[in-house]
Amino acid sequence: MSEIPSIDDFRAVFLKYTEKAFRLLPKIANPNILDIGCGTGVCTIKLASLTDGIIIGMDIDEIALNSLNDKIRSAGLFNQIITIHGSLLNSGFEKESFDIIWAEGVLHTIGYKKGFKACYELLKPEGYLVIAEAIDKITRKKSLIPKSGFELYNQVIWEKGCWWNEYYSPLEEILDRLRKDGVPITLFSELIKHKNEIAMVKANISQTDTAHYILKKI
Ligand SMILES: C[S@@+](CC[C@H](N)C(=O)[O-])C[C@H]1O[C@@H](n2cnc3c(N)ncnc32)[C@H](O)[C@@H]1O
Repeated sequence: MSEIPSIDDFRAVFLKYTEKAFRLLPKIANPNILDIGCGTGVCTIKLASLTDGIIIGMDIDEIALNSLNDKIRSAGLFNQIITIHGSLLNSGFEKESFDIIWAEGVLHTIGYKKGFKACYELLKPEGYLVIAEAIDKITRKKSLIPKSGFELYNQVIWEKGCWWNEYYSPLEEILDRLRKDGVPITLFSELIKHKNEIAMVKANISQTDTAHYILKKI
């Protein structure tokens, strides 16, 4: 069979929403951007193509950061992206350091209240916090947005069911094909790690509906 895709290749199908959300921000010259919970940097690399600002990718997962560092090296982006191993909750940055904080799929892990508070402190006045989260979860926590000092500036609603249609269903198909073709598991161990998520998402497709929320510090 042709080359086995990486999990980052699957993740990349949603970069269209990252780009849409970024383009809804007002133009900021040379912004300082913190990509918190950047993981392997799929969004970080995309952001670098959309801005001339400096991006700091921060994550508690050192292995994921190593993968981002490889991407930075091969794309020659060391002048634009810096990676830091650390937590949003103990970042060591000075208050009001950033124009934009990008946080895709991370604040629900940290906890919205703590996460919003930390981002509020790190953002410059009138800075922007862009989060990508399950609509279900944010709808339940909506009141935290003004309580944390933000207003909803804009949003990008992802296509309904897209986690299933564009990510987990194609992943399931590829895993089935690899098994059928007798490809050794060691060659796709990175993909098979996500096997349990497939059944979970299939059973709760609507709960995975996602949006980018662009929050402005007020
Ligand atoms: C679902 S992944 C999202 C990765 C990437 N933003 C994306 O959308 O592809 C969540 C990431 O948040 C990171 N993370 C969790 N808690 C964190 C914290 N307190 N500070 C920084 N990163 C954290 C995890 O290690 C993981 O890489």
